Amino acid sequence: MTAWSPTSWRDFPVQQQPQYPNSESLKTVEAQLKTYPPLVFAEEIRRLEKHLGDVCLGKGFLLQGGDCAESFQDFNAPKIRDTFKVILQMAIVLTFAGSVPVTKVARMAGQFAKPRSADLETIDGVSLPSYRGDIINGAGFEASQREPDPQRMINAYHHSASTLNLLRAFARGGYADLHKVHKWNMSFVQANPLKNKYQQLAEKIEEALHFMEVLGITADTHPTIHETELFTSHEALLLPYEEALTRTDSLTGLPYNCSAHMVWMGERTRQLDHAHVEFFRGIHNPIGVKLGPSTKPDDVIQLLDKLNPTNKAGRITFITRMGADHLAERMPALIRRVQAEGRHVVWSSDPMHGNTVKTDNGFKTRNFAAIVRELEQFFAVHQAEGSHAGGIHLEMTGEDVTECTGGAYQISENDLAQRYKTQCDPRLNADQVLELAFLVSESLAKARNS
Ligand code: PEP
Ligand code: CO
Repeated sequence: MTAWSPTSWRDFPVQQQPQYPNSESLKTVEAQLKTYPPLVFAEEIRRLEKHLGDVCLGKGFLLQGGDCAESFQDFNAPKIRDTFKVILQMAIVLTFAGSVPVTKVARMAGQFAKPRSADLETIDGVSLPSYRGDIINGAGFEASQREPDPQRMINAYHHSASTLNLLRAFARGGYADLHKVHKWNMSFVQANPLKNKYQQLAEKIEEALHFMEVLGITADTHPTIHETELFTSHEALLLPYEEALTRTDSLTGLPYNCSAHMVWMGERTRQLDHAHVEFFRGIHNPIGVKLGPSTKPDDVIQLLDKLNPTNKAGRITFITRMGADHLAERMPALIRRVQAEGRHVVWSSDPMHGNTVKTDNGFKTRNFAAIVRELEQFFAVHQAEGSHAGGIHLEMTGEDVTECTGGAYQISENDLAQRYKTQCDPRLNADQVLELAFLVSESLAKARNS
């Protein structure tokens, strides 16, 4: 292999990058970003890798979730708080009902770049470049909006910094205190049939905390009661941005991508001899790789050879997104090959991206039952193969949206138009996430007791 540097990806073919009309302003922006402070610190990144190493060995579970695409316009404290709340709520259900420590990784504070299946979007005979995420161009269907603008990278950096600042404050400042579990319920979830189940769980936690207090175990002696740890992640798609945020850690002398704690490679950009794999192989962050239904066992091993030659536990998370109809048939061969070669990976399930459909009335949606079916099969296949189902990866929001059909409220295709707000893919709303949390916790508890 040739020598790696933050810029060596530039010598490889690259997919899914915008064509900037002005290369001078691109260079100016890149130079500017290189002078900006890192968004995260390498020591935090190493902590996440350690947690994921434990997950690899079956001693934890990864919960990764958040927006499909964050947006500059829809950027405010309640939105950040509510998504944070939903992540906390799901994590507490998994921890308590599933009896497993949960590592929380948000798809937030940098999830601004989107891979697209088509370069152009055509409406009423007019074709314009596809929307590629707010870090690249605008979602509005106008030529001026769709032109890629490098200044958007600066804007994305500042949005990420503000989001991260608030997330850190929520995580450490008392909002995530275990005594507040019942307050993490969303106001619109009040009518949810699962509300009582959640309330009961909150009461049990309160009793346990009270018991611990009697024994002298309090937030003063154990800060984990008062605060939580939340890591950030995004798809590192736009390589000029990711390169500019890649820094040499002063403690170890190693390169880290300081735009997020964990970054992942999409299903469309993980070609072995292409630029994204080249970039990812040199950064020391834990990395995710999406695996779709066409993945072959050899692909998996070749990716591991390139991305994790030392077989470090916690370095690689395979995020499978097979689709409910394909998982049971395609996954076992991948798991067996990884086991046969003794490789360490975290297996995480993205039950969203293989189950996207278009309705007759033109909405991109996902059905809750298909999402549940993919997850159930994910757990069943891992159990059958003697492997650890290590995590889930969800597109979800704390907002009361109607983007995925089904769930306890039986959202129908006709209901989608009511509150369909996503910039890109359909997300689970807080009710659907809570429902999923209880289902997954049952699978987790079953896996632990088997
Ligand atoms: C995504 O996670 O938003 C995404 C585009 O996924 P994939 O690369 O698996 O299609
Ligand atoms: Co998506």
